[in-house]
Amino acid sequence: MNTGIKIRAEIAGTGMFLPRKVLTNADLEKTLDTSDEWIRTRTGICERRIADEDESSSTLAIQAGKMALESAKILPNELDLIIVCTSTPDILFPATACFVQNGLDAINAAAYDISAVCSGFVFGLSIAEQYIKSGKYRYVLIVGSETNSRIVDWSDRSTCILFGDGAGAIVLKKNEINEPRGLLSTHIHSDGSKSDLIIVPGGIGKKNISHEAIDRKEYFIHMSGNSTFKAAVKRMVEVSKEALDFNELSVEDIGLVIPHQANRRIIDAVTEKLGIPQEKIFINIEKYGNTSSASIPIALHEASQASLIKPGSLILLVVVGAGLTWGAALIRW
Ligand code: ACO
Repeated sequence: MNTGIKIRAEIAGTGMFLPRKVLTNADLEKTLDTSDEWIRTRTGICERRIADEDESSSTLAIQAGKMALESAKILPNELDLIIVCTSTPDILFPATACFVQNGLDAINAAAYDISAVCSGFVFGLSIAEQYIKSGKYRYVLIVGSETNSRIVDWSDRSTCILFGDGAGAIVLKKNEINEPRGLLSTHIHSDGSKSDLIIVPGGIGKKNISHEAIDRKEYFIHMSGNSTFKAAVKRMVEVSKEALDFNELSVEDIGLVIPHQANRRIIDAVTEKLGIPQEKIFINIEKYGNTSSASIPIALHEASQASLIKPGSLILLVVVGAGLTWGAALIRW
């Protein structure tokens, strides 16, 4: 007999953690040829958080992870897997996820990092979805955590104004129910031919570390802002439509869009092209800037805490990042 009961992946808890130190646009005016007015109108950003010397992607991730575990009402030893999405790992290896596993005392969890830059969280969610829906794991912690301030060139006004530090986390849980609730689907894509658009060119495997490479600022973010902007809008619109079509849903069904917080103007262009009204778009970029892989889980946590997500509501997550990478997820809350 077909009972209709299926294994579904549901969000059991969310969490976030931000460094205390705030860097405002007014602070940046003191060291750069820029203005609060330029940054606000071109990006929507007012301030961002900066990690202290004793903070790193793992310490931020541990705090966000603890909050997500508490919100899911599970113990650390119940976790089967920890995926840390980061492009600013503490060190080259071991994986930042191993430090997080230790910090959480999640003794039964396997732990590894993934790198998809700003798209990292949706890529991580897509991996976790497979483990849960296959029945292999019951609880997976996915954390997006970044210390972008360590890899921005603070003398480059076209990039350093954009980025901030922070971490966001969710617990994804296996549930056996008949109604289509939880994570409906994930959709991820990459185009390596666009790898030059946003890149940290200095490498460990490609070239030896050298003083010359450091002097050429190869270990910092280099970005073609305009081309990235155009590619971001195109891909975010495309993948949002793909996710809706896959689930035979339409724009009108969406309760809330949580877009990657890279630039307010990118968010406005994407949602305008999709025909989504302003009141259905979650934006917190003014407070944190672009926190890369942490941006979506931080926004998801804040939106749920602010009761902007009602039970049964349809949530669209949509991201774009270096790679180029892009993706979307649809969640029935
Ligand atoms: N303050 C003042 N002037 C500035 C600043 C600044 N902070 N930055 C650039 N300018 C100047 C430029 O030098 C240029 O001057 P010019 O005309 O004399 O040459 C002028 O402003 C216009 O520059 P543009 O680059 O054309 O400005 P634009 O409107 O495109 O905004 C920005 C630049 C904000 C970077 C935008 O292109 C953008 O947001 N792009 C997408 C970035 C993005 O999403 N990155 C993250 C991707 S996700 C990831 O994976 C990391």
